Amino acid sequence: MLTNDLPAVALDHHDFAHTGPGTLAGRYMRRFWQPVCHAHDVAPGRTLPIRIMSENFTIYRGESGAPHVTTFRCPHRGTQLSAGWVEGDALRCYYHGWKYDATGQCIEQPAEIESFAHKVRIATYPAIEYLGLIFAYLGEGEPPPLPRFPDFEATPGIYDWDSYDRRCNFFQNLENSLDNSHVGFVHRDHGAAFDGLVDRPVISVEENEWGISVNVKRTSGAERTTYIGLPNSYYMYALPLLPELGWLKSLFWWVPIDDENHRQFVVRKLPLTGEAAEQYRERIAARQAAFDLNHSDLADEVLSGRVARDEIDAGRTQLIRFQDDVAQVGQGAIADREHERLGHSDVGIIYLRKIWARELKALAEGNPIKQWDHPADMIPTPHRGPGPRPVSESRA
Ligand code: FES
Ligand SMILES: [Fe+2]
Repeated sequence: MLTNDLPAVALDHHDFAHTGPGTLAGRYMRRFWQPVCHAHDVAPGRTLPIRIMSENFTIYRGESGAPHVTTFRCPHRGTQLSAGWVEGDALRCYYHGWKYDATGQCIEQPAEIESFAHKVRIATYPAIEYLGLIFAYLGEGEPPPLPRFPDFEATPGIYDWDSYDRRCNFFQNLENSLDNSHVGFVHRDHGAAFDGLVDRPVISVEENEWGISVNVKRTSGAERTTYIGLPNSYYMYALPLLPELGWLKSLFWWVPIDDENHRQFVVRKLPLTGEAAEQYRERIAARQAAFDLNHSDLADEVLSGRVARDEIDAGRTQLIRFQDDVAQVGQGAIADREHERLGHSDVGIIYLRKIWARELKALAEGNPIKQWDHPADMIPTPHRGPGPRPVSESRA
């Protein structure tokens, strides 16, 4: 029997993991702007196919440089629109040349004797370029204002995008950001960043207008505050790829590609200009080229038992990424939250889930959801007090 009922999973306001079309968490995530690619991934006049929350889309930039997000397939006979031509701010399909303007309206059907273009329209989605990323609003109704980060806009320097894909559900990475007790174990052999953090951190969490404030105090006296931006972003001090620059303010978003894969977008503003900025870019390119092992493949090798984790040569991959891959992918593609044994150290994760469940319940019942807003002065603090060894010794 065919029905148009939503699957049971779509009604469960404790299901944060499934974000495909029609799911409750997917509807929730689509009510907020999401980064969908880096600005440099799509040049003016070019297209890019993308997959976000188990749906495919086409991104293109008009010849003017304006970003556009539209459907994946042409409604005529279904070929991929990303194979087509950008003409001005319109997109022409590769297969038979139907042309769609920036509103999605079909405006040409070259092979038709009697055009019915006025009856054909493809969906388009609001898109904005900001901080070197392209953000899209893929949900229903009017989009909320795009969250802004004035402290990233005002200072001189260059943006650094240190993004990656991970082979597990996005919520595992989001939860990991509140899991401070993993640091002393998962990253214990990371030269600079995390020595001395093997203790029982005291974690305090509290809801604010953007999401959750997380304050962590170590037994050493070191302390820091970070912020979760609901539904899926994070603002903290982290080490850039070349860690001698020291801890830098970093913005993160964890965006589902599908339910079992996600992309971390991360943006930093580096205090480098002119020659120093050029040199940084060259060094990053050289460093990336030097890694001969993909961190995800390597984690798969470890999790399948073919390679021992402690035999990994840190110089051949991105160590922190690999370490978090092992821990998070090791939870399974979608972590089993029904059979966990949570403790005191998981207070942040418990709090995050409570807020997410509250919002999903409100959405399911047709009640207003909280409109999260990032205040300009909500800026994280780095570790204060006794802490990690000098960053010059690190290998990120
Ligand atoms: S499939 Fe696009 S014009 Fe025919
Ligand atoms: Fe980690």
